[in-house]
This record gives sequence, structure tokens and C-alpha cells, in this order.
Amino acid sequence: PSLEKDLLPLYFGWFLAKRDEDSLRKTSHEFLEQLGNLKAFKKRLQAYGYEDKHKLDLLKHFAKTPNILHCTSKFCDYGKAAGSEEYARQEVVKKSYSKGYTLHITALFATPRTVGARLELTEEQLLLWPLDAEREVMPKDTFPRGSRAHVTLGTAAEVQDVQTGIDLLEFIKLQQAGREGESLGELTGSVAGKVSYFDNGLWMVNLSRKIEVKSIFSGYYG
Ligand code: A2P
Repeated sequence: PSLEKDLLPLYFGWFLAKRDEDSLRKTSHEFLEQLGNLKAFKKRLQAYGYEDKHKLDLLKHFAKTPNILHCTSKFCDYGKAAGSEEYARQEVVKKSYSKGYTLHITALFATPRTVGARLELTEEQLLLWPLDAEREVMPKDTFPRGSRAHVTLGTAAEVQDVQTGIDLLEFIKLQQAGREGESLGELTGSVAGKVSYFDNGLWMVNLSRKIEVKSIFSGYYG
């Protein structure tokens, strides 16, 4: 009997190589520190539920960080999630399993709920991206394939990791509607780029230099 029929992972995805994972965690800290220190940010704390600018420490606000930094391609919930068997059965999934991929991070974003890295998937990576990944969480909207691709870097207490991709689609939805966000400064160093603010505590920095991280496509069985 074939194993893949019975043993489906919690999720499939690209898992960051150890060195790049460590460095992305540092980049995330740097992002939150610089963002939190922006005057424009301190003036717009309400969405984060803080009245007093001295009370907000973004590193503490995002109390939870994932154990393994990764980009989920397909959440299977050990086979309970819709479409997981069909996904796992695909030739491209089997063939790509345990192969190395370079992921391209184009932006970092923070909302009152989550902090994450936005990815730009290559054509090859898009072959592993489920057709309904975006529709699954935002059925009323249409997005270019791969729009939801991200690495969760942290969440506020009580917030599930899955929220990060939903928050990312929220930014993209606003951008699709022609909103570019308010340009409210620039970050420097490893997180250099323009900072845009989109109401309700949605902040994004478009990186002037994309960050590349090495990863391995695999399944997480937890
Ligand atoms: P994400 O990919 O945004 O980080 P959990 O620990 O909650 O079981 O989640 C395990 C991983 O699967 C996390 O990486 C999480 O979010 C992702 N995930 C959880 N639920 C879903 C879902 N419904 N759709 C897509 N990804 C999910």
C-alpha cells in the first residue's frame, strides 16, 4: 500500500535553511524595532490597542514566533483539510519533495495581529501553489496566484498563524483598489525601503533590495 495515501502532513511548504532562518529572525527584529521607532508609527498606535506610546514594544506585542520559519503551500491538517489528498498526489509535489528552492522576500508587513514577510513566487514555485489558495480565505475577491505567499514571523497573543496570509491579502486588496498607502518614511540597513501605511494599523515596507532565503520543500508532520 502506498504511504502517501495514509500519511498526509499538517502542511506542505518551503522550510528555511537554518542559517537563513536565523538571519530572517534578526531581520524581523530589526524591522519591528525600526518601525516602532518611527514618529509616524508612534502617532498611530490606536489600532494596536495602546494609548501610551511608551507602553508599546512591538517585539513584545508579537509574543508568539513560529518554531520553524516556512512558507505554507498547502495546509492539509493530516488529510482533514479539503483537497489535501489531491494536492499530495500531484506529480509535481512528489517530484519536488526535499528539493531546494530560493525564496524571494519583497516586503515586510505588520498589522495589529501579525508580522510577516511577503514572497514573490517563481514560475517553478507557483506550480506547487494550490489554485484556490487565495479564494480559500477570501472567497469574494480575486487575486493573482501566489498573492498569499508569505512567511509568518510572529503573531500577537491569541492570534493564529493562519491570520498572517489573510492580513497580507488585505494589503493586496487595498492596493488592487488603487490605494498605495500613505508614504510615511523609510527604513534603513537590512530592511531598507519605503514605509507605507494603510489605515487600521496596516504597515508595509517595500524592500529596496529583495531578501533571498534558501529553503527546502517538504512536509511538516508535527
Ligand atoms: P501560516 O502559513 O500563515 O504561518 P497551526 O500551527 O495553526 O496548525 O498551523 C500550521 C501552519 O499551517 C502555519 O504555518 C499556518 O499558517 C498554516 N495554516 C494553518 N491553517 C491554515 C489554513 N486554513 N490555510 C492555510 N494555512 C494554514
